[in-house]
Amino acid sequence: MNFTLTEEQRMIQQMAKDFAENVLKPGVIERDEKQYFPRELITQMGELGFMGMMVSPEYNGGGMDTVSYVLAMIEISKWDASAAVIMSVNNSLVCWGLETFGTEAQKQKYLTKLATGEMIGSFCLSEPEAGSDATNQNTTAIDNGDHYLLNGTKNWITNAGHADVYLVIAHTDKEKKHKGINCLIVERGMEGFEVAPKENKLGIRGSDTHALNFNDVKVPKENRIGDDGFGFTFAMTTLNGGRIGIAAQALGIAEGSLNLALAYSKIRKSFKTELMNHQAIQFKLADMATEVEASRWLLLKAAAEKDAGLDFVLSASMAKLYASKTAMFCATESIQIHGGNGYVKEYHVERFFRDAKITEIYEGTSEIQRMVISRNILK
Ligand code: CAA
Repeated sequence: MNFTLTEEQRMIQQMAKDFAENVLKPGVIERDEKQYFPRELITQMGELGFMGMMVSPEYNGGGMDTVSYVLAMIEISKWDASAAVIMSVNNSLVCWGLETFGTEAQKQKYLTKLATGEMIGSFCLSEPEAGSDATNQNTTAIDNGDHYLLNGTKNWITNAGHADVYLVIAHTDKEKKHKGINCLIVERGMEGFEVAPKENKLGIRGSDTHALNFNDVKVPKENRIGDDGFGFTFAMTTLNGGRIGIAAQALGIAEGSLNLALAYSKIRKSFKTELMNHQAIQFKLADMATEVEASRWLLLKAAAEKDAGLDFVLSASMAKLYASKTAMFCATESIQIHGGNGYVKEYHVERFFRDAKITEIYEGTSEIQRMVISRNILK
């Protein structure tokens, strides 16, 4: 068993840490307050290779392993969880899905640009009545000769305002249940496709979330991913890897909360001594550090299994379940240690607290992760 990172993995980790501290941190409070993320920052993330980390160099990607991707996600999430989800959806869901299941023409047309940040991708599965119950799709993609006619609404779609490419899951044949679902590549600007106003969110406010409406959008057949009826398996398989990305985001939020609590407890005094000298604070820090390490090893196990070509579904769900709980725990404790200062924006931890919550909801709620875990351990 080897717990050592490679030289290359450490370099990527350091690069992401520098980028998060020097570029993302300075404007993060304002972006959160005003709910925006400038396209130039995404371009910069693309130039540094963060938008297509695991994509093969043949399609302009970084050709890196999942462990490297996770390390970068953790560092970026320590300061800006919004930047991290923009990156995670593009990398884990859109680029990975296209590279693994797309046609050569789809890869040339979309993946080569998504991997560099020239294009941005969205993954569109959720609907007003299909969140956890993802097979219950009401969006329809009716086979109409050389194209599909797409109608319906998607909800809570990350990157929707910035995106150029949308992977849309829809029912072609309801009778066939989940085997009648397809995934279509929809381009911004296609006639009948409308991006609804931005959602006003609790957390990850820098990232941009919208509903999408499709009114008789004609999507060419060559934009279907995989064979007819492959869409649900596509979504589930892609989300398995996506959960590793969100677990990394959660761990970054948890570790960021711990780091700020450690630093604060060394400078803030109460009862004539620094906070760190009170056992009540020491025990909180010890519990936070232990939960962070437990999350880190569950997460790296899942990433290493994926890199080794092993079945990582169980580990990915465990990592997401545990890391998201740890994010909530550490953000809450960090606010408690910061006291009144933890409740105001300048100290960052109140944002971590708001950002942490979504990691227990998207890419499969904690309840869905428990479903996946129990199904796996009971089979
Ligand atoms: N990996 C691969 N295939 C899977 C799978 C997985 N983890 N889970 C299910 N499947 C396959 C099954 O094998 C089955 O296929 P076959 O019939 O060919 O064998 C098919 O999918 C249907 O599976 P079930 O019968 O188990 O379906 P179900 O309805 O009982 O449960 C579920 C499915 C696991 C609950 C699923 O609906 C699910 O994961 N729900 C959560 C959806 C989710 O994560 N949404 C996140 C939205 S995307 C997002 O958040 C992105 C973002 O913007 C940040």
